[in-house]
Amino acid sequence: MFSPRLVFQRTFRETQSVQVSSKITRFNQPYCPTSARRASNHTRTMSIYSKSNVSTAPETPVENPSTSASHNAWSSPGPSAIDLRSDVVTTPTPSMLTAIGNCSLFDDVFQEDPTTSSLESFVASLAGKPAAVLVLSGTMGNQVAIRTHLQAPPHSIIVDDRSHIIRYEAGGAASLSGAMVTTVKPSNGRHLTLEDVKEHVVLSDDVHACPTKMVCLENTLNGTILPLEECRRISEWVRGHGIIMHLDGARLWEAVVAGAGELKGYCECFDTVSLCFSKGLGAPIGSILVGQEAFVKRARWVRKSIGGGMRQTGIIAAPARVAVEETFLGGGLQAAHVRAKKLGDYWESLGGKHEFPVETNMVWLSLKGTGVDTDEFIKLAESKGLRVMGERLVIHYQVTDEAEGKLKEVMNDVFSGKAKGEN
Ligand SMILES: Cc1ncc(COP(=O)(O)O)c(C=O)c1O
Repeated sequence: MFSPRLVFQRTFRETQSVQVSSKITRFNQPYCPTSARRASNHTRTMSIYSKSNVSTAPETPVENPSTSASHNAWSSPGPSAIDLRSDVVTTPTPSMLTAIGNCSLFDDVFQEDPTTSSLESFVASLAGKPAAVLVLSGTMGNQVAIRTHLQAPPHSIIVDDRSHIIRYEAGGAASLSGAMVTTVKPSNGRHLTLEDVKEHVVLSDDVHACPTKMVCLENTLNGTILPLEECRRISEWVRGHGIIMHLDGARLWEAVVAGAGELKGYCECFDTVSLCFSKGLGAPIGSILVGQEAFVKRARWVRKSIGGGMRQTGIIAAPARVAVEETFLGGGLQAAHVRAKKLGDYWESLGGKHEFPVETNMVWLSLKGTGVDTDEFIKLAESKGLRVMGERLVIHYQVTDEAEGKLKEVMNDVFSGKAKGEN
């Protein structure tokens, strides 16, 4: 006779790694939120893992780095101090660890976890929207938003041709939403304008047409700001034509801190906004989608359909809240902007040029005319103990004075010919 418990025990014995996880009991137990049931689940789980059930150890022991490490990964500065490849490398802080230790551990698919729902309400109120839903990543936030808003094809969305949604989200708008994507190059070379949108929008309901149903903007984009005034112009016209406005606001925090406008002011221009906790704010995981109640209800459904329904999300939500409170509201980002500006100015003082202006936490060096190519620049930075990916330098809030000094040395070497070994 089929017995889920026996199947589980056999499967478990057949796997050679031993991981104690209270989740495993859920194969056998109906859901019950009380702590009493949780306690009994735990006891049962531990008996499943008693020695008699664990038949074999792995033949070749596989080291567990988190129990064998000689250092504490939560001490600071962490490895991000010299890592300028992106702000996604920011290391979670000890206060985030404390928050994880104190969070609630209930099931979020059942919407029963207080740490998670309070984060959702907190961010929704900061953004001036009625509701919010936690998602795993910025990509998931954008793609769930697009899938939730769009109904049935034919439908198209307008995006900046440099946007993350079109370039770095694995074609999700096509595969998940069947959307035709119209990419637009900003005519002013900096950001999309209402005129750009009007030129490319499809309002027709002629059978040959693929009508525009969404305009998706991004702020910041390549570290540069989409001005609030332009958002308002685009929003008024676009929504006036019944078209949905979504913002990829992975780094909207940065624009707000740079003084471009209030978070609520920006969010007002959009039906939905995706905000990331694990870029410049430094949380380990997570993003959030804010919007109307009905949107968020449906977004939970879409999130579930792509495997984004999560269980004990308190461990994600707790550090995310610390990230918003300490890094965004607590002023952590401003100092990084000052450092970025200082480094950008230093590069210019040596005769360097930028690919994009320094407006937030990114410094885009132009290597054209320096005689140093991207690979040489990366190697030069490595020789000084810095990690870079190319000309884009992300000066996140965990970059240290020491790293700043090393980067100036790299810049000096680019212009003195040392990068080529000429001196
Ligand atoms: C502007 C922007 N949006 C969305 C994302 C996607 O975020 P994630 O890597 O969490 O999927 C990124 C990632 O860096 C991004 O830069």
